[in-house]
Amino acid sequence: MLSKACKHYPKYFLYYYRAISNGSKEILEIPLKEKDPEIYNLIKEEQRRQFEGIELIASENFTSRGVLDCLGSCLTNKYSEGYQGERYYGGNFVIDKIERLCQKRALQLFKLSPEEWGVNVQPYSGSPANLAVYTGLIPVGGRIMGLDLPSGGHLTHGFQNEKKKISATSLFFSSKPYYVNPETGYIDYDRCEKLVNEFKPNILICGYSAYSRDLEYDKFRKYANQVKAYLMADISHFSGLVSSGEFNSPFEYCDIVTTTTHKSLRGPRAGMIFYRKACLVDGENL
Ligand SMILES: Cc1ncc(COP(=O)(O)O)c(C=O)c1O
Repeated sequence: MLSKACKHYPKYFLYYYRAISNGSKEILEIPLKEKDPEIYNLIKEEQRRQFEGIELIASENFTSRGVLDCLGSCLTNKYSEGYQGERYYGGNFVIDKIERLCQKRALQLFKLSPEEWGVNVQPYSGSPANLAVYTGLIPVGGRIMGLDLPSGGHLTHGFQNEKKKISATSLFFSSKPYYVNPETGYIDYDRCEKLVNEFKPNILICGYSAYSRDLEYDKFRKYANQVKAYLMADISHFSGLVSSGEFNSPFEYCDIVTTTTHKSLRGPRAGMIFYRKACLVDGENL
């Protein structure tokens, strides 16, 4: 199969030839089953576990054969730091096409116009996507506010407790949470407004990992406007419900929307950052 490919790709042939002459033919051609039966058998064991068990972990999903094919492809060989047309490494013209296509499809999925919205599809997962947003928008020590973790929020929304700064997002940024009402289990919007006005976050974060209701984005937008904060939604857990129109869309009200791609979107393990090209705030309080 490789020798057939080499006919069409002379450069690959060179690479292949060099590898073989270095005595590393087996590294390139021998299937995992023969090359490393120990790892192969552990993958099979995990496959059986996933097939036979009941998974009740809300952040997990089962991806498709097509996604697994992409992940097990030659794309894994390539460094592609930077953006399309301005990479740090050569040989990225195919990667550029793939990344553009990926961005186009991501915008289409949420019915967003490329005039109004852009999307970065490079994050390795949701946590680095969120950290990248904070780092890109505000200085170290800037203020972020999100739903408290015990109320259903996520670690990367600035979680810390009295004893310890648990998440890197609370180490590098100053954070304060808002909460659910313990009686009802619903977000306490009135208290949130009060806390926002006291703490004056630079970024107000809505979105959650463990909360059983949709969000009132208009209220969050109002609170963010009161203190001239960016409004960011992290829809990692329910992006599938937003894209299918079952849930309210955060795009009408937010400046930034982040999501993972491996939860309800059932894609590969990665993240995306959607950004409004003209922010709804001027970030004056930074
Ligand atoms: C709301 C939310 N944001 C971000 C993340 C982080 O995603 P990842 O685990 O891909 O880094 C999670 C993970 O479950 C999440 O629930």
